[in-house]
Amino acid sequence: MKKIGILTSGGDCGGLNAAIRSIFFRAKNKYNMTVFGIKNGTTGFLQRPLDYVELTRETFSGYLLKQGGTFLGTTNKASTNNSIDQTQMIIEGYRQLQLDGLIIIGGDGSMQILQNLAKKGNLNIVAIPKTIDNDVGATDSSIGFDTAVQVATQALDNLHSTAVSHSRSMILEVMGRDAGHIALSSGIAGGADIILLPEIKYSFKGIINKLNEMKKINLKHSLIVVAEAVKKENGQKVIHEYKDGQKRLGGIGEYIANEIMSKTDIECRVTALGHVQRGAPPTHNDRILASAFGVYAVDLLQQKKFDRMVAWKDRKVVDVPIANAISTYKNVERSDALVETALSLGMYIGDIN
Ligand code: F6P
Repeated sequence: MKKIGILTSGGDCGGLNAAIRSIFFRAKNKYNMTVFGIKNGTTGFLQRPLDYVELTRETFSGYLLKQGGTFLGTTNKASTNNSIDQTQMIIEGYRQLQLDGLIIIGGDGSMQILQNLAKKGNLNIVAIPKTIDNDVGATDSSIGFDTAVQVATQALDNLHSTAVSHSRSMILEVMGRDAGHIALSSGIAGGADIILLPEIKYSFKGIINKLNEMKKINLKHSLIVVAEAVKKENGQKVIHEYKDGQKRLGGIGEYIANEIMSKTDIECRVTALGHVQRGAPPTHNDRILASAFGVYAVDLLQQKKFDRMVAWKDRKVVDVPIANAISTYKNVERSDALVETALSLGMYIGDIN
């Protein structure tokens, strides 16, 4: 392994720069490899001339470790990678750079696309899981999740005081795609009264019972966390369509607020946290996880253990086939310790016991 590439793909998150930095130092200091950063995900391989940068010690002399986002850039537009021509161009790009291996830092969608590419082009890839959603199977934690939970928890702390001042229900809509991990963790950490998750069915009867119970003990304020993929009570998804035709989850907070206000005399306000969760400076946990993953990923390449994803299990970095990681979507499950924790704290998290 003389020359390796790194690319970040999919939605950004806190900790990506820490991972890139760690890959560089392991590759340079231990194996004397040349390391190229491919710009904007696979898009860098599609440009002619190729869009990439050679990483050096100077690259990391500033504050990158502490900054959110990815200094290499990324893309989460699926269409970028679909056509046969583009597949060929990406493979050619890898060859032009004479790469011996490529580390991809991405979520399950990116890993799927790049695994197909690797098969077609015989590319040597290793993957590092990142996603604020923490929904990649086969790893206990992905880069970015801890930062997103930290931001959401901080938001709840800020909302708490204003909820008390105004005797209001403050509704916080958080990201997480189809999984409720951010909502559940931040809801517990931030002392929410109600947490709505895509995995557990809720009812307005249940929500209003909880709010009425609180009223009886003179608690006129409340904190409600709702994951973006929670559906309307009738099962309909709430989607926001942007002008360019792209559709994203978003808007369920408003729906929950309007329904509560139309069924009770409770005043609600909504905060949709959105990309604030992705762009925040990484927490120490994300920086540490990213650094440990980076080292291990380079070692995998060096050992020619390709098509593997690094994973965090029982306080250790391990590796698993990429195929295993992408075939198991990690949702919140009834048996999760945090579900029992929320219930024990008296939170309403849907119609379960
Ligand atoms: O997968 C990460 C994520 O932030 C999701 O939680 C969210 O639904 C989506 O990406 C938002 O995507 P975009 O950055 O394209 O708006």
